[in-house]
Amino acid sequence: MTGIAVLGSTNMDLVAYVAHAPKRGETVTGREFRTIPGGKGANQAVAAARAGGYVAMMGAVGSDAFGDQLRATLIASGVDTDLLRTADGPSGTAHIVVDDEGGNAIVVIPGANGTVTSLAPGDEALIATADLLLLQLELPLTAVLDGAEAARRHGVRTVLTPAPARPLPPELLSAIDLLIPNEHEAATLTGVTDPHKAAVELLSHVPEVVITLGAAGSLYASRDTGPFTVPARPIDAVDTTGAGDTFVGTLAVALGEGRPVEEALRWASTAAALCVQRPGASTSMPYRSEIDTAS
Ligand code: RIB
Ligand code: NA
Repeated sequence: MTGIAVLGSTNMDLVAYVAHAPKRGETVTGREFRTIPGGKGANQAVAAARAGGYVAMMGAVGSDAFGDQLRATLIASGVDTDLLRTADGPSGTAHIVVDDEGGNAIVVIPGANGTVTSLAPGDEALIATADLLLLQLELPLTAVLDGAEAARRHGVRTVLTPAPARPLPPELLSAIDLLIPNEHEAATLTGVTDPHKAAVELLSHVPEVVITLGAAGSLYASRDTGPFTVPARPIDAVDTTGAGDTFVGTLAVALGEGRPVEEALRWASTAAALCVQRPGASTSMPYRSEIDTAS
């Protein structure tokens, strides 16, 4: 089984489903409200566990009721939460508007995630036992960097989803093996909007890059191969929240199993397609059997 350590965020997603997102000063009446466990770290953990990985989650939930629900959700998907801290105060929340095209706009309030400024006792020992460490940018950068450097010390492959988009210190990028931005994040990191050119530019910092292109699939490039594109199947999106995280968590499992990159990308893309056809983040992530059946 692929051992996957995730150092990242947990958020309760507070989701309003509306025909179109309101503009500034506008009030719109929505259709439905849901609270759905999310957060980029927890989403990647759930996706990887459902795809068949052995997954452990590091980070923090709050001491509120959301914290208990977020932890319980991870456990229900088979994620080990022994090293997930409970911090005094509120859990992270994401305030999400999903429109009729399935697109979203999100405000994240870090809450407990903001207290994770470094690794906790036990975290490095756990990272050392993993095949891959999954990182995103919803924890303070100091913790992300600590995690990446710990993984490096133990020869563990590091995978960074540079989301939410922000410029990154070179010392963080140089500790990453596989970078998985979307087009917008790739442009933020490079100043280049063309994904092919952005990928080439990113290869001067990291050995392997996957740029996710939404409905257009994904673009892979490494210092030895590519770039090549793996198309996505045309589907009607209901809610794209968590699609990128599903892709990353599933891809990590396949890569950890030693599957060829192109096959791994196709499998991850199938998982992401299943995710966008159902509402919510963690609730919409497919299990391994579903991914295999749809592949
Ligand atoms: O990547 C999707 C996630 O981003 C949501 O679940 C939300 O919590 C935000 O952090
Ligand atoms: Na979804």
